[in-house]
Amino acid sequence: MTQALISPRPVVWELSPYIPGRSIAEVERELRLKNVVKLASNENPYGPSPKAAAAYRKAVKSLHLYPEGPSPLLRRSLERRLGLPDGSVIVGNGSDEIIRLLCEAFLDSGDEVVVSQYAFIRFRQQARLMNADVVEVPASGWGHDLEAMARAVTSRTKLVFVANPNNPTGTYNSADEVANFLKALPPSVLAVFDEAYEPYARARSDFPISLPRLMGEFPNCVVLRTFSKVHGLAGLRVGYGAASLEIVGYLDRIRMPFNVSVPAQLACLAALEDASYVRQTLKKTLGEREWLAKALRGLGLLVGESATNFLFVELPRPGREIFEQLLALGVIIRPLDEYGLGRHARISVGDASGNRRLLKAMNSILK
Ligand SMILES: Cc1ncc(COP(=O)(O)O)c(C=O)c1O
Repeated sequence: MTQALISPRPVVWELSPYIPGRSIAEVERELRLKNVVKLASNENPYGPSPKAAAAYRKAVKSLHLYPEGPSPLLRRSLERRLGLPDGSVIVGNGSDEIIRLLCEAFLDSGDEVVVSQYAFIRFRQQARLMNADVVEVPASGWGHDLEAMARAVTSRTKLVFVANPNNPTGTYNSADEVANFLKALPPSVLAVFDEAYEPYARARSDFPISLPRLMGEFPNCVVLRTFSKVHGLAGLRVGYGAASLEIVGYLDRIRMPFNVSVPAQLACLAALEDASYVRQTLKKTLGEREWLAKALRGLGLLVGESATNFLFVELPRPGREIFEQLLALGVIIRPLDEYGLGRHARISVGDASGNRRLLKAMNSILK
């Protein structure tokens, strides 16, 4: 075969495909196992809300038609519920798409992006794709040191990403820390708060109220949220961003024309109507999180305080080794080598039976 004379932009050589959590189907196929439990992607273990599932099934009748490109009904419903002005929400193919749109809209070669050590890895990957320089600020107690991040801003900084709470460490920044950070930032720098896990942190009295409060006060504040976690719709791929009309306008210019499918738009609209599903999910997840953290600590593991639906766990042996051993027993967790954390793992809080399977498997491995 002759070599094709094509090559990508140089920065593409530097990037690798995103490593998702191993899927149940893949592991069952490869290891010939049944009843594999996945605690690797922070999904909602309780399935989608029945209302969202019914709306999805109803959408079958419209599959021959393109969706409404800007997802107008979903945008409006979110704006109303969050107390935001018309035009301040953009819906994407997961909040991942909004991260990408922000980088595409605002970053050029030579611009700087500030992130925290151990912050959600997609920020740096998307920033690098635009040839921006990523400035990493050392973590403080595994979390974001917002004072140091504000100090790291230079005249070249365009974006600062803050995952609040953070994946994979489960840490969060308080309302006071966030307010001081926003006051310290030049108004020309966008502060992007990725709040994928906000519903799990909301009960904490010192968690910031970003929507509508901070966004109303600081025009450079952008907030990202998702339907993938507490709403149980990770498979549909829907997330959103809230920002000033000006910023949403820029993102809309470069958004793919039909980025959110008909069933996804309709199911998310219905999911927003199902407050009791969200309440029940939160109650079960927070209860199970407490049980699981205590049980893992009982095995002698160090488990971080979590404001999310997962636990950040320090292991006595390399995370990859423990991951492989658990995999052989039909339990998938997430090693964290890509974060430079060879002896840690992220374990999603599953349902009662999944968590007990994990504990039994972990116990047998650590004995
Ligand atoms: C902090 C954080 N942001 C964004 C995402 C992406 O979410 P989505 O499914 O909406 O693309 C995730 C997914 O795990 C996440 O942990």
